[in-house]
Amino acid sequence: ISRADFPPGFIFGTASSAYQYEGAVNEGQRGPTIWDTLTKRPGRVIDFSNADVAVDHYHRYKEDVELMNDIGMDAYRFSISWSRIFPNGTGEPNEEGLSYYNSLIDALLDKGIEPYVTLFHWDLPQALEDRYGGWLNSEIIEDFVQYAFTCFKEFGDRVKHWITFNEPYNFAIDGYDLGIQAPGRCSILSHVFCREGKSSTEPYIVAHNILLAHAGAFRAYEQHFKHEQGGLIGIALNSRWYEPFSNADEDTEAAARAMDFELGCITDFSACTMAAYRHGKKIGETAASSWLHIVPWGMFKLMKHVKEKYGNPPVVITENGMDDANHPFSRLEDVLQDDKRIQYHNDYMSNLLDAIRKEGCNVHGYFVWSLLDNWEWNSGYTVRFGLYYIDYKNNLTRIPKASVQWFSQVLAQKTAII
Ligand code: GCO
Repeated sequence: ISRADFPPGFIFGTASSAYQYEGAVNEGQRGPTIWDTLTKRPGRVIDFSNADVAVDHYHRYKEDVELMNDIGMDAYRFSISWSRIFPNGTGEPNEEGLSYYNSLIDALLDKGIEPYVTLFHWDLPQALEDRYGGWLNSEIIEDFVQYAFTCFKEFGDRVKHWITFNEPYNFAIDGYDLGIQAPGRCSILSHVFCREGKSSTEPYIVAHNILLAHAGAFRAYEQHFKHEQGGLIGIALNSRWYEPFSNADEDTEAAARAMDFELGCITDFSACTMAAYRHGKKIGETAASSWLHIVPWGMFKLMKHVKEKYGNPPVVITENGMDDANHPFSRLEDVLQDDKRIQYHNDYMSNLLDAIRKEGCNVHGYFVWSLLDNWEWNSGYTVRFGLYYIDYKNNLTRIPKASVQWFSQVLAQKTAII
């Protein structure tokens, strides 16, 4: 597979998020976030770690931009930490925060790498959680729109691709139903947070407020910035592919219902009804994370579903990747020879290509999760998703895995960015 197989202008990049990469949590006047709070509670992260240092991208972003450039990546998806721009969630923007993201954006453009910027990748300022209950309160809609407005105004002369939210479905379920992710409410681990028991309406309220905030930010961009800046604004949605267990009507209907619950819940809120599962069965070998099943043909079917159900909207794969376990006794040579990751990307990219070529799916880009090993939420540092290995014991040195060489070959011919 090679870049030349994809339509002209197709974008390849890597993806990250602020809390998982930046570190420097007490620098640049950054305010605390709900993830800083959650990671300090015992038992929430498997290795008791937090992302206070993470992979120190805050200080090493220039080196990391060089690495992206060496591979031949066209774009970089990163998120802005709301609490670096507004340490208390609202008020006057913090100059040091603006200056950090300005420098990162300039460093990328200097190398011809297009920034794709996520405004909310789960790290809500703790101040807003404390003030009015964060995403449970509709007051947050206006505050998010203000924050988004500030980002458009400060960075939009150079940022032409905006993503309002990362995976609202996961944020709502994991944060307000399972309680495993921040803000850790309604937890099956600690019922003390669960005011209304397992039938809590909180995930629905949160998803609803997020959708209204997305709409508000979208409108603000269209009304005040689009004309002058000419960028695009979207949202990053996650969904599994649900394959019917058999051709029986009830299985086909069950699979369609499950798709509606997970993807339709956000794309079309009216689809958000409880899914009933018949024969619920996971398919495919897992990566190091037990939730991550490797089923490349799912990519083809999911793209086809999006095309058929939603009128073939423009789509970018904002992240795709797999992890290896971070075993303390693994030999470095073995970890660096990440053939399984190469196979993974090869197979998913081939299926994506089929969706584009055979089905005419309107897909414009593919972002790898991730350039570097990094801090993986509840799994902490126990898994490695990177094309580059991070030597956590030796000054966070970045060491290329075999997949770096593979991607460099695939991307050898840089196409013009449009
Ligand atoms: C998510 C996030 C990323 C993850 C990645 C691997 O999907 O949970 O966008 O932050 O780290 O997907 O799990």
